[in-house]
Formats: sequence, C-alpha cells, structure tokens
Amino acid sequence: MSNKYIVSLFIILGGIFIFSASGLAAGGENTGNACVNCHSKLPGSSFVGIKSHDWKGSIHQKHGITCDKCHGGNPAAADKNEAHTGVLSSSNPQSRVYYKNIPSTCGSCHGAEFYKFTQSYHFKKLEATGKGPNCVTCHGSMVTSVLNPEDIANVCVRCHNKRIGIFPYIPQKAKAVLLLLRQGKALLAADKELYKPAKGSAEASYLQDAQSSLYSAKLQWHKFDLDAIVRDLQEMNNSLEKLSRSSSRP
Ligand code: HEC
Ligand code: HEC
Ligand code: HEC
Ligand code: HEC
Ligand code: HEC
Repeated sequence: MSNKYIVSLFIILGGIFIFSASGLAAGGENTGNACVNCHSKLPGSSFVGIKSHDWKGSIHQKHGITCDKCHGGNPAAADKNEAHTGVLSSSNPQSRVYYKNIPSTCGSCHGAEFYKFTQSYHFKKLEATGKGPNCVTCHGSMVTSVLNPEDIANVCVRCHNKRIGIFPYIPQKAKAVLLLLRQGKALLAADKELYKPAKGSAEASYLQDAQSSLYSAKLQWHKFDLDAIVRDLQEMNNSLEKLSRSSSRP
C-alpha cells in the first residue's frame, strides 16, 4: 500500500467523521444517553415532558447524573420499551423514586446527608406512615435546588402548627435558622476572598475550621437539629473572628 493511498484514505475517513460529527452537533441531542436523547425531544406541554426538561441545567446534569441514575432502566437502548425495563412510576412501591425509597436512592451518592437523615425522628415517621419531609421536599427531584427560607416555613407548617399542636414555633425557627445559614455561607465566601491566607499559615487553619463548621451546620439540617445548626454557625463565626484578628495584626 502506497503512502499516498493511506493519506487519501485518512482524508476520506476524516471527512466522513467530521461530516457525521457536525450532523450530530446540528441536532444537538446526542448525549450518548438514550433517556436524555429521547426525553429532551418530548413536548414541554406534557407532564412527562415538563419533568424531563426540569432536569436540564440542574447541578446533576452538569455532573453527568442522568435519568437512569435515579430511575433505573437501560440508557443504552434507543427503543422506548427496552429502555424503560425497570423504570417504574413513582406511585409504585417498588420504584426507586417511590417516596419511601427516595432517601436511599439519593443516599447512594449522598451518604453523609442520608446517614444524618436516618437519625431523625422524621425518617422513622416516613418509614412508618409515609408522612413527613424527605429529600425532594426540600431539594426538588430534578432541579435539586435548596428551598428558600420562606418555602421551608411552609413545608414545616403543614404539621407544626397551632391546630395540630406539635411544636408550632418550628416553622418560624426553621426560617430564621436557614437565613442564618445563608448569611454564614456568604460571610465565609467573602472572608475567603478578602484574606486569601497563605498555605500552612495559622490563618489558613482558621479558615479551614470555619469551613468545617459550615459543612457540619449543613449536615445537621438533615437531622432537623436546629439548635445544633446554630451552635455550628456560632463556631464558624468564632473561627472567622480569629482569622480577622490574626490577619489585621501588623
Ligand atoms: C425513545 C424514547 C424514550 C426513551 C429512549 C426513554 N423514554 Fe422514558 N418515556 C418516553 C415517553 C414517550 C414517556 C411517556 C409515557 C409513555 O409513553 O410510556 C416516557 C415516560 C417515562 C417516565 C414516566 C413513567 C411513569 O410511569 O410515570 C420515566 C420516569 C421515564 N420515561 C424515564 C426514562 C429513563 C430513565 C430512560 C432511560 C433508561 C427513558 N425514560 C428512556 C420516552 C422515552
Ligand atoms: C437525582 C435523581 C433524579 C434524576 C437525575 C432524574 N429524576 Fe426524574 N424523578 C426523580 C424523583 C425522586 C421523582 C419522584 C417525583 C417526586 O416526588 O418529585 C422523579 C419523577 C420523574 C417523573 C414523573 C413521573 C413519576 O414517576 O413520578 C418523570 C417523567 C421523570 N422523573 C423523568 C426524568 C427524566 C426524563 C430524567 C432525565 C432527563 C430524570 N427524571 C432525572 C429523581 C430524578
Ligand atoms: C449517581 C449519583 C447521584 C445521585 C443518585 C444523586 N445525586 Fe445529587 N449530586 C451528585 C453529584 C455528583 C453532585 C454534584 C457534586 C456535589 O455537589 O457533590 C450532586 C449535587 C447535589 C446537590 C447540591 C446542589 C448544590 O447546588 O450544591 C443536592 C442538593 C443534591 N445533589 C441532591 C440530590 C437528591 C435530592 C437526590 C435524590 C433525588 C440526589 N441528589 C441523587 C450525585 C448524585
Ligand atoms: C428540611 C429540609 C431538607 C431535607 C429534608 C433534606 N435536605 Fe439536604 N439540605 C438542606 C439544606 C438547608 C442544605 C444546605 C443548603 C445550602 O448550602 O444553602 C442542604 C444541603 C444538601 C446537600 C449539599 C451539601 C453541600 O455540601 O453543599 C446535599 C447533597 C443534600 N442536602 C442532600 C440531601 C439528601 C440526599 C436528602 C435526603 C436523604 C436531603 N438532602 C434532605 C435541607 C434539606
Ligand atoms: C408530615 C408532618 C411533619 C412535617 C412536614 C414536619 N414535621 Fe417535624 N415533626 C413531626 C412530628 C409528628 C414530630 C414529633 C413530635 C413528637 O415528638 O411528639 C416532629 C418533630 C420535630 C422536631 C423535634 C423532634 C426531633 O427530631 O428532635 C423538630 C426539630 C422538627 N420536627 C422540625 C421540623 C422542621 C424543621 C420541618 C420542616 C422542614 C418539619 N419538622 C416538618 C411531623 C412533621
């Protein structure tokens, strides 16, 4: 085989490759995952379409957590029925997204949050009666946002109110504590920008302590331990104060 022949073969093959690649790019839909490919073409006016489009732009999409990771099924099969093998409606108790199964489905990747959640009273309640908040109550299933303080009060007030009488003060307290958590996050982010401590310095370790306290505060949410969240945030503040004092010393 002459070199000339090989070179032209390359050019032809390369041309076909470029052609097909640009063909896909124009369609914009081939993600290598059949669930996403097909569902992204479903009309947004249908219930299934709305749910499918919700996932787009989520943090899970950005990290390649596709539909099958939560719903099961076969993401390599282009045929609908084949792909749907094992995909069950959330109303089916065998489904991975049945409300009682949601914590363990999410927990397969978010183990720390799941573990805290299993220590809560609400988890036991969810297991026993199916009532009570679970992961998607506060995060949404596809969007995985975090509730804002106003909405969290509305979730808690469903059971914690004067009429039912169990801890009716909780919704307002939850709202205040979530606001505090947000302020804490913003403060830490600002201090990180402001001080930029050198690696290995005392200041760097204060910043690290503050970071751990914030992480712990976030985790405590999953046990609904509002007082522990406040304590963690207080500790975070203490560390940030040390950082500030130590950084302003000449
Ligand atoms: C070829 C198109 C196609 C593929 C591939 C596909 N789906 Fe679907 N899916 C649909 C359509 C259309 C519906 C609406 C209901 C129906 O027609 O079965 C649907 C419905 C669903 C539902 C709702 C089920 C219910 O009972 O409420 C879920 C969940 C779902 N699909 C997940 C997936 C997952 C996960 C995959 C990949 C493993 C996948 N789909 C692959 C087209 C597809
Ligand atoms: C991080 C996990 C997760 C991912 C990723 C995810 N879903 Fe879901 N999805 C859920 C959960 C949980 C529910 C249950 C409904 C609820 O309580 O909000 C649900 C509900 C649905 C429903 C409503 C039907 C039903 O059974 O309730 C459809 C349709 C659906 N998802 C399709 C998709 C498609 C299509 C993708 C990918 C584009 C996807 N989902 C990605 C977790 C996920
Ligand atoms: C297959 C693994 C996987 C599953 C299952 C999964 N997640 Fe995630 N999740 C990730 C990854 C990866 C990220 C992005 C990196 C990170 O923050 O850890 C993420 C991020 C998140 C975030 C952070 C959002 C932010 O803005 O920082 C939340 C909240 C979340 N997931 C909730 C859920 C919920 C609720 C479920 C179940 C309905 C779930 N996840 C199921 C892998 C998963
Ligand atoms: C009562 C509401 C609530 C419930 C229920 C809940 N979370 Fe959270 N979750 C939060 C709050 C509040 C944060 C902190 C958000 C922030 O960073 O502003 C959070 C943060 C997270 C994060 C991001 C942590 C990080 O490092 O930024 C993940 C992942 C997560 N939750 C997963 C879960 C999973 C999995 C479940 C179910 C087992 C669950 N959550 C149930 C309120 C909740
Ligand atoms: C579906 C009903 C329901 C919802 C929604 C609910 N709770 Fe509860 N919660 C209960 C019940 C029932 C108890 C137990 C009261 C008792 O000890 O007798 C409880 C107890 C508590 C306790 C004290 C027990 C413990 O775990 O130490 C806290 C704190 C709490 N809830 C916080 C919250 C917060 C915050 C929200 C909103 C994100 C919320 N709850 C939403 C039903 C609910």
